[in-house]
Amino acid sequence: MKIRVLGSGAGGGFPQWNCNCHNCHRIRRGEMNGTPRTQSSIAVSTDNKNWLLFNASPDIRAQLEAFPAMQPQNGIRDTGIKAVLLIDSQIDHTTGLLMLREGKPLDIYCTEMVKQDLTSGFPLFTMLKDYCTVNHHAIPVDGSSFEIPAIADLRFYTQALKSKAPPYSPHRHDPHDGDNIGVIIEQISTGKKVFYSPGLGEIEPHVMDALQNVDCLLVDGTFWTDDEMVTQNISHKHAREIGHLPQSGAGGMIEVLNKVGNARKILIHINNTNPILDNDSPERKILDDAGIEVAYDGLEIDL
Ligand code: MLT
Ligand code: MN
Ligand code: ZN
Repeated sequence: MKIRVLGSGAGGGFPQWNCNCHNCHRIRRGEMNGTPRTQSSIAVSTDNKNWLLFNASPDIRAQLEAFPAMQPQNGIRDTGIKAVLLIDSQIDHTTGLLMLREGKPLDIYCTEMVKQDLTSGFPLFTMLKDYCTVNHHAIPVDGSSFEIPAIADLRFYTQALKSKAPPYSPHRHDPHDGDNIGVIIEQISTGKKVFYSPGLGEIEPHVMDALQNVDCLLVDGTFWTDDEMVTQNISHKHAREIGHLPQSGAGGMIEVLNKVGNARKILIHINNTNPILDNDSPERKILDDAGIEVAYDGLEIDL
């Protein structure tokens, strides 16, 4: 299978439009060894033609323009996007659906909880009824598997995660299974597997199992420290409070990934405040030494 990282940034992207933090300030002025990043999304295919879009970022237009394999090939209107899978209903993962409104009905795979959010607090599905319409396909939250007919040779295992529903969601302070999911994507013919989870608040036993049983990890790289937005005077919010496990410190993502065997380890959904965006930072050196990569826009993984 081929995985294309369309957007490796967290909500807001990098640089964020209104942000003057150490990273955003320096990247705009060319004073930092790093690259800008669009907001969170990947695409997966087994034939380089029919693609499953994971999350629909507000930056989807630019992401598709940067990737010919998903652009129109046949007829006057066309796309490589054959289905969309949403792992939650966050703004950075769903707003791009509005940008797909000129197309055919969208086949969207998401949990019942995500569907509820997208027909209530952020009623995208309701709005899209007057454009392309949405065919919703409910997906499990107990680790059981399903297939998507339009995407050959892939099987998906989806499981509930402890992260956070978006601020607008009726479930923000009333968590339910399915507000957020992690996904194992398996190529049936080869048995190769990847685990995708850009929002991971806690390493529950079923998450550890997933991490240990796949060939490649694309996991939450949002924050380096729990208080990084607080110490930079950006927000009162702590990483763990908004459903993201920081990389450093006791119980952090580096410690977790050090317990995982042979998988290729890649952090994704990097917030603009995170020092790992600077390729020359000491934090980046720590990741390099631990064999952990940092996703960038346009990264392609062949599994
Ligand atoms: C998150 O994952 O917590 C989001 O990136 C927040 C947002 O989109 O504002
Ligand atoms: Mn996000
Ligand atoms: Zn910033």
